[in-house]
Amino acid sequence: MKEALDGFAIQLMEAKKLGRDIHLAGHFNRVVVCGMGGSGVPGDLLKAYASDMDVDVVKNYFIPRSVDKRTLMFLVSYSGNTEETLSCFRQGLRVGCQMVGISSGGKLQELCRQYRVPHVDVPKGYQPRIAYPLQLFPILNVLENLGLVSSAPDIDEAVDLVKNADFTGHARQLAALLVGKLPIIYSSERMFGVANRWRIAFLENCKIFAAVGVFPEIDHNELLAYANPRLPFHVMILHDEDDYRRIKDRMKLTKKLISRTAHVTEIRLSGKGRLAKIVSSIFLGDLISFYLAESMGVDPTDISLVEDFKKQLGSGYLSL
Ligand code: F6R
Repeated sequence: MKEALDGFAIQLMEAKKLGRDIHLAGHFNRVVVCGMGGSGVPGDLLKAYASDMDVDVVKNYFIPRSVDKRTLMFLVSYSGNTEETLSCFRQGLRVGCQMVGISSGGKLQELCRQYRVPHVDVPKGYQPRIAYPLQLFPILNVLENLGLVSSAPDIDEAVDLVKNADFTGHARQLAALLVGKLPIIYSSERMFGVANRWRIAFLENCKIFAAVGVFPEIDHNELLAYANPRLPFHVMILHDEDDYRRIKDRMKLTKKLISRTAHVTEIRLSGKGRLAKIVSSIFLGDLISFYLAESMGVDPTDISLVEDFKKQLGSGYLSL
């Protein structure tokens, strides 16, 4: 994990080249991204980045009924063997929508070859959650080739920011505040993908529960849990200076009200463009979870419970 974090800028540079050679013909009016766990993150992040685009994220066996020939569907699986994603692939074939596979090999790569579906070969050797730029940037490159986004300068900004900024001190400080606490991460709804990726980092790297919530929804229910909290926790609010002004008002007032019973840290997303904010803040979250895991004596790379689960469940996707 340490090597993956130290080499994160290098991964970004590698990621920005992927998918550039995929030029699709056709007009697409919506995008669907299928993927589970770490490989579900790129879909959430595409929604955060291209919030004006019609993007659906599928983290399940079944694609929406409304998928048709004008839908562009990305199938993302780091291993290429995740059965929910393979099930979506088979349904996409039946519908006849344009698909693009993204994996480091596995069954997904084989199926893409067999059915002549464009496929992005992602380098092997990463843990899926750390590898999300290797899955997200090719999606952006394919969309850029279609004229649907203009992400090349944003990718460059994200790479430069991670290469030049030093998040270590900030990450260590925050990790120290989280020892023995339940991390609660809030963001605007648009940045849900980022807040949720922070949660995944705490779940998988530290093996601790973490909670996520988004504005404005939390002000309509979760706020009440602060009346009399019974658990040790620490709240982190992710601020994007481009959040809608009423969301910013809500963040400010929520912080004021919950500070009576809660420890709250505000984190301002660094960078100018939205992609740089997304990538740099996830990097900060990864560092925090890494230092927290270290202080807890937990191996951040151990995901054996998930792997054992997959083995015990067996491979039944072919019968779907
Ligand atoms: C994250 C992780 C899991 C996998 C998920 C899907 O680091 O290991 O969340 O991402 O089980 O597997 P893949 O990514 O191989 O499709």
